[in-house]
Amino acid sequence: MMQARLKGVVPPFEIEMKAEIAHKINLLKKELNAVILGHNYMEPALFHSVPDYTGDSLYLSAVSAQTDADIIVFCGVWFMGETAKILNPSKTVLVPSTKAGCSLAAGISAKDVAALRLMYPGAPVVSYVNTYAEVKAVSDYCCTSGNASKVLKHLLDEGHKRIIFLPDEFLARNTAAEMEVPFIQAGQPIDTVPLDQPAVIGWHVRCEVHELFTVDDVHAIRRQYPDAVILAHPECSPEVIEAVDVAGSTKMMTDYVEKVDKPRYALLTECSMGDNLAAQFPHREMVRACSLRCQHMNQITLEDTLAALEKIQYKVELPPDIIEQARKPIERMLALR
Ligand code: 13P
Ligand code: SF4
Repeated sequence: MMQARLKGVVPPFEIEMKAEIAHKINLLKKELNAVILGHNYMEPALFHSVPDYTGDSLYLSAVSAQTDADIIVFCGVWFMGETAKILNPSKTVLVPSTKAGCSLAAGISAKDVAALRLMYPGAPVVSYVNTYAEVKAVSDYCCTSGNASKVLKHLLDEGHKRIIFLPDEFLARNTAAEMEVPFIQAGQPIDTVPLDQPAVIGWHVRCEVHELFTVDDVHAIRRQYPDAVILAHPECSPEVIEAVDVAGSTKMMTDYVEKVDKPRYALLTECSMGDNLAAQFPHREMVRACSLRCQHMNQITLEDTLAALEKIQYKVELPPDIIEQARKPIERMLALR
């Protein structure tokens, strides 16, 4: 199954080597009653072999909230493992590398949130799931790119006129634009927009991968592949989102490629995603011109996943008070899926 899927995506000698490791992982997984969750950005040999569930960060958080397994191995980045731990404090949660960070999560602290609350009193704080637990613990809601507009709409419907949305500047700008609400950069006065009108207050950090896509990239794809539909992750700049055909989370991109029949698809997101879709939907023509990889997601390999199960490493540990406080905004996010 794995071999058939990866033909043409991974070189044959590598497939055989990876298949052996995957076999060992699958045996250990059963023995230890472990579940493996694989984010859409995992390398194809991992993505198409050992995970029991694959998907975007929203779906995988929901799965982790419901599992009966004793051990959860999160093949994704560290904040994803933390989210699983917060939802399953009594279980062992492993992330196969300690180096799997994220530029967004690293760009905001609980202290920053406290300062923003002082600057914009009464404004609820929505934290992107790409944050560490200490930030979630001082937030009112979490969201992912898969439900950011739902969470924002919910708060607008409740009548909030100022909503702090952290930490990704581009996701905040894109979601505000989708809801037709003006954007205020954190630090600007609260009355930059009249106080009786709603506004989104955003932070200044960006995804180090998606911020690199440009409108010129979009034009270059259109010139070379005029029949391609271009999809982008909403962590791209508002100009890029304006220029592409479809914007959405990694799950939305997967669903689009699966369900909407187009001559070709070009993805502006982490490269493994395009490779994984090419393997999953061989009847679809993917434009494989991607060169942007996430150094954090790429830390997680099949080899590390085997080592994680053999050595029960690296355990996600969090202080109980942080777990307790961070649980509420995550549960609110899951309720608004
Ligand atoms: P998704 O929420 O779409 O899975 O994306 C997570 C991420 O890290 C995107 O860069
Ligand atoms: Fe973080 Fe960007 Fe990597 Fe996603 S792609 S994990 S947002 S650095």
